[in-house]
Amino acid sequence: MVVKFLDLKKQYLSIKEEIDSAIFRVIENSAFIGGDEVLRFEEEFSAFLGGGVRTLGVGNGTDALEIAIQSLNLPQGGEVLIPANTFVATAEAVVRNGLKVVFVDCGQDYTLDISDLESKITPACVAIVAVHLYGQSARMNEILKLAKNYGLKVIEDCAQSHGATYNGEKVGTFGDIGAFSFYPGKNLGAFGDGGMIVSRDSLLLRRCREIAHHGGLKKYEHNIVGRNSRLDSIQAAILRVKLRYLESWNARRREIAGLYLEALRGLPNIALPEVKESCVCVWHLFVIRSLKRQALREALQREGIEYGLHYPLSLPNTPAYSKVAFVRETACKNATLWQDEILSLPMGEHLENEEAQRVVEVLKDALCG
Ligand SMILES: Cc1ncc(COP(=O)(O)O)c(C=O)c1O
Repeated sequence: MVVKFLDLKKQYLSIKEEIDSAIFRVIENSAFIGGDEVLRFEEEFSAFLGGGVRTLGVGNGTDALEIAIQSLNLPQGGEVLIPANTFVATAEAVVRNGLKVVFVDCGQDYTLDISDLESKITPACVAIVAVHLYGQSARMNEILKLAKNYGLKVIEDCAQSHGATYNGEKVGTFGDIGAFSFYPGKNLGAFGDGGMIVSRDSLLLRRCREIAHHGGLKKYEHNIVGRNSRLDSIQAAILRVKLRYLESWNARRREIAGLYLEALRGLPNIALPEVKESCVCVWHLFVIRSLKRQALREALQREGIEYGLHYPLSLPNTPAYSKVAFVRETACKNATLWQDEILSLPMGEHLENEEAQRVVEVLKDALCG
């Protein structure tokens, strides 16, 4: 039995008619940039998030983060606290804005460790990027409190957490501004690139719109030096269809996670993911840790079970982000230790119970056999 890490074809086939007609509608109308589909998706995604946030579609999640940070007009060279364990785009968005990265260690839930975060705040710090990693919210109460005490802006990186909640509110509704990615493999994924900026602050969103649309709000209006980053109309039409399924797909991810957690609990040499009481996790990834990772990888591979490593190197240990002027060097003990232990199991609504059970069997054999 082959168990896929991700199965976008299966997902497409399950909603083929709706997707095909959405794509066809865009072609028929031939409004390929902007227009009704993008506007309606922005409205529908705002309504999905709640909390009074408004949204702006952009080209991808990296652009969303970069433009969101630019809109805050932070002082050049200011320091931005970000997790050591995240996808590299989080760091890129900071550096591309002329700001300095300060890496913060991760806690047991793989999001920002609050005591490490506080210990790394200096007068040079201007913002925190809270990444809701693997589908689980960061500790937003504590982060918002620190931000308030030290006068820092909060940017939420929600690329892995569409629909995740913290104290009953959706991620993306807590910070000054937030960013989503619709990369195909995300919980809500397009058929190509796509991204979204979210904020309650209409002035910030307006600035983002200017930045993303060649520096103006109207054609041939260039108030500032801008750039081009737009959510494609075909992608918006596809995302509108998929948004209607997101909650049920996330619920199915929770079922698979429940099955894994129950079956793997108590086994030797394995640390299971922990979900905070305040959170509903949407399980973008199901990440275990093991000192026997190599044996587990070999067993999974032998049995045709796909897996991932998120991420093989924590960012401070990558050539691009170690010993460089735009990073304040700090220790991130857990992130460095865990980069050699983490292993992402197949996760998604595509999985049948038997497939998840097969994953469990293979892990059990490798750990105990
Ligand atoms: C945590 C995180 N931030 C940002 C991004 C960037 O998104 P994109 O690939 O759409 O540029 C991703 C996804 O790839 C991500 O996982």
